[in-house]
Amino acid sequence: MTDLPDVSLEPIVYLNGEVVPLSEARVPVLDRGFIFGDGIYEVAPLYARASGRLAFRFEHHLARLARSLEKIGIVNPLDNAGWRALIERVTEANEAEAGLAADQDAIAYIQITRGVAKRAHAFPAGIQPTVFVMVTPLTLPGAAQRAAGVRCVSAEDRRWLHCDIKSVSLLGNVLMAQYAAENDALETIQFRDGVLTEGSSSNVWVVKNGVLAAPPRSHKILEGIRYGLIEELAAQCGIRFEVREIAEAEVRAADEILISSATKEVLPVTQLDGKPVGDGKPVGDGKPGAVFAALYAAYQRAKAEQA
Ligand code: PDD
Repeated sequence: MTDLPDVSLEPIVYLNGEVVPLSEARVPVLDRGFIFGDGIYEVAPLYARASGRLAFRFEHHLARLARSLEKIGIVNPLDNAGWRALIERVTEANEAEAGLAADQDAIAYIQITRGVAKRAHAFPAGIQPTVFVMVTPLTLPGAAQRAAGVRCVSAEDRRWLHCDIKSVSLLGNVLMAQYAAENDALETIQFRDGVLTEGSSSNVWVVKNGVLAAPPRSHKILEGIRYGLIEELAAQCGIRFEVREIAEAEVRAADEILISSATKEVLPVTQLDGKPVGDGKPVGDGKPGAVFAALYAAYQRAKAEQA
């Protein structure tokens, strides 16, 4: 007998009213998510705490889910209480049957597609959306990765111009993630017409002379739930914060570059395209900087403090 979770156990998922093992969840091939990428998704951390599992800033995730649905004309199948109850139900099923330990952080993945219909591009009438929820263990970046920072590469942002929608049509992001993987990097930082947009699956921040800057909320980036959070944390820490267009040259000359996402929290980028970040600063060394350290600590406090 051992207390270790049985990793051979399958995750338990929710699909269209049923809670089943992952391998039993089936979607018809004419699902418009499969045929057209016609759907949206959410990814939200469920942190393990002694006082119980915390769906971190979940109301923000649900608000973004509602916005994404509205932007593509799908009626939200549940209200916020319904979503919370569903995530709890799937989490409990994974704790009971899939070896998800109560002290293991988890990630909730929600996907909604327009549903199943004969293949024709325009919205079909009278179909039910496909609703899928999966809760799986989350391994956050460790102390060593935070101490060393991560490598990124950069590329021109060639995605469509509805990046504000958290769409499952992720081919542009997938190609950028693959480019990073092929270059031994964690993320690709993208520029559109010489201006910073975001990472392949993260928001990007730059620091110069102690001032933190982020690209404006627009159709060119996905507004991460950590975007608003880091804005709040910067204010708490007394870090000056600017929202403005950031030229590629500024990114390359930044003292610090940070990336943020549900699965990465906030991470320091210490190498961009093979060059150490912060090379130009007085103590320029390609090491994580003070703004990262302050924001990471504030992020952990926010987790501890959310009721
Ligand atoms: N992606 N921008 C893009 C393109 C992203 O895919 C993500 C997150 C973010 C950061 O958003 P948030 O702070 O809400 O995680 C920004 C998730 C993690 C994913 O696709 O798995």
